[in-house]
Amino acid sequence: MSVESITGPLTTESGAPVGDNQNSETAGIGGPGLIQDQLLIEKLAHFNRERIPERIVHARGAGAYGTFTVTADVTKYTRAHFLSEIGKQTETFLRFSTVAGSLGSADAVRDPRGFALKFYTEEGNYDLVGNNTPVFFIKDALKFPDFIHTQKRDPYTGSQEADNVWDFWGLSPESTHQVTWLFGDRGIPATLRHMNGYGSHTFQWNNEAGEVFWVKYHFKTDQGIKNLTQDEANKLAGEDPDSHQRDLRESIERGDFPTWTVQVQIMPAADAAGYRFNPFDLTKVWPHEDYPPIEIGKLELNRNPQNIFAEVEQSIFSPHHFVPGIGPSPDKMLQGRLFAYGDAHRYRVGINADHLPVNRPHATEARSHGRDGVMYDGRHAGQKNYEPNSFGGPVETGRPLWQPATVTGPTGEHVAPSHAEDDDFVQAGNLYRLMAEDEKERLINNLAGFISQVSRDDIAQRAIENFRKADADYGKRLEAAVQALRG
Ligand code: HEM
Repeated sequence: MSVESITGPLTTESGAPVGDNQNSETAGIGGPGLIQDQLLIEKLAHFNRERIPERIVHARGAGAYGTFTVTADVTKYTRAHFLSEIGKQTETFLRFSTVAGSLGSADAVRDPRGFALKFYTEEGNYDLVGNNTPVFFIKDALKFPDFIHTQKRDPYTGSQEADNVWDFWGLSPESTHQVTWLFGDRGIPATLRHMNGYGSHTFQWNNEAGEVFWVKYHFKTDQGIKNLTQDEANKLAGEDPDSHQRDLRESIERGDFPTWTVQVQIMPAADAAGYRFNPFDLTKVWPHEDYPPIEIGKLELNRNPQNIFAEVEQSIFSPHHFVPGIGPSPDKMLQGRLFAYGDAHRYRVGINADHLPVNRPHATEARSHGRDGVMYDGRHAGQKNYEPNSFGGPVETGRPLWQPATVTGPTGEHVAPSHAEDDDFVQAGNLYRLMAEDEKERLINNLAGFISQVSRDDIAQRAIENFRKADADYGKRLEAAVQALRG
């Protein structure tokens, strides 16, 4: 712990010494309060404004600073400076989170975990805003608000409703892969240290020569995978709602720094059109036999934030925060996210969110012509606030961060292109068949426990049919388990 104590007289927010912090001022002994009691009014008013809106998703989280170290030469794939040399180190900040729960919810729940990583590089901050799962429930950003509404509280009952969750998943068969993952053993990690992280989307890397590669990031935990069963989690969530946050902080306090081995799968741009799966479909993985993961670095978490509100609650991560050599892919989910996060930050933290200590670049400085707004700190002093200018201000480089994409055809609400082996079920079935018999058993029980709470047979049945399409045995066993529970 390195929490410094502040000494000297107590003051008001404007620095005037406080004479009495125990008794507010009244008109006479036992009389009513006075408006001239600046201290009382200031304290109550400040207190009323202590909260900012919680994140609309991923509200509950814990974070830590760390170091990323390059362990392989990837310069033939990307010109990103922080990846330019074996041994090169970059400061990072990682925020873990659950997705659906609100700020005060418990850690030990069945939910994907956010894995939002900020690299403070010399070319600006690079954010990789991923999850602990390599895939996601849907493949078009247009469906995200509807999806999240089904995960959150019902407008009438005020609770999460099995009806809404299974209605949406049943009607969105592309969710079958991610739902199989979520209700399997990895759906409730034992700690934040004992799980993997994934960039999940496909991203563009481009090298000095302008050649393009598509990449997927994997962060493999060096602590080993450890999970909780549903029963263990139910107990822990009641006994210690902060279990994950506490575990992370305490492990760093005792010098037991968690590490992850960072790997990428790399696809040459020319492969994308003919690949057996749409490589930009977030509901699909790239099987490792197609593109074997190669190790490129180590991530270590080694420093706790000193103030949770300032550094975790006010931290912001955006899939749009790229650096030269890295850019987006045409994944329709990613494209939506490129807008959504900056917009959320401007609403939740304010227009100057990027300039708070946790969010600002640490290895360079932001030299934009953006100015003013709420909580502007005057960092630009009297510098000119426009460009081009004749006074020696910052100028454009003439080179985009990523390479342009070639597009053809009419605009329209197009379904993403389907590749030779694409359907909504093939990879869900493969995942099911990979599981050992005891994991299959737990998966079926976890799913059946939830589906059996659905009030309408047609909604339950439609949900089960998706699993049957993934694997006949999967569907048969699930149907029997749901029937047994529904009686
Ligand atoms: C189109 C789909 C999506 C939209 C519109 C969306 C939107 C958002 C928004 C608005 C936030 C809150 C940001 C804030 O208040 O700071 C958020 C947080 C987050 N999202 Fe998404 N999201 C989408 C999909 C995903 C996917 C696919 C992943 C992972 C692969 C993901 C991972 C995260 C994480 C990790 C956070 C928490 C970031 C933090 O720690 O501050 N989201 N999302």
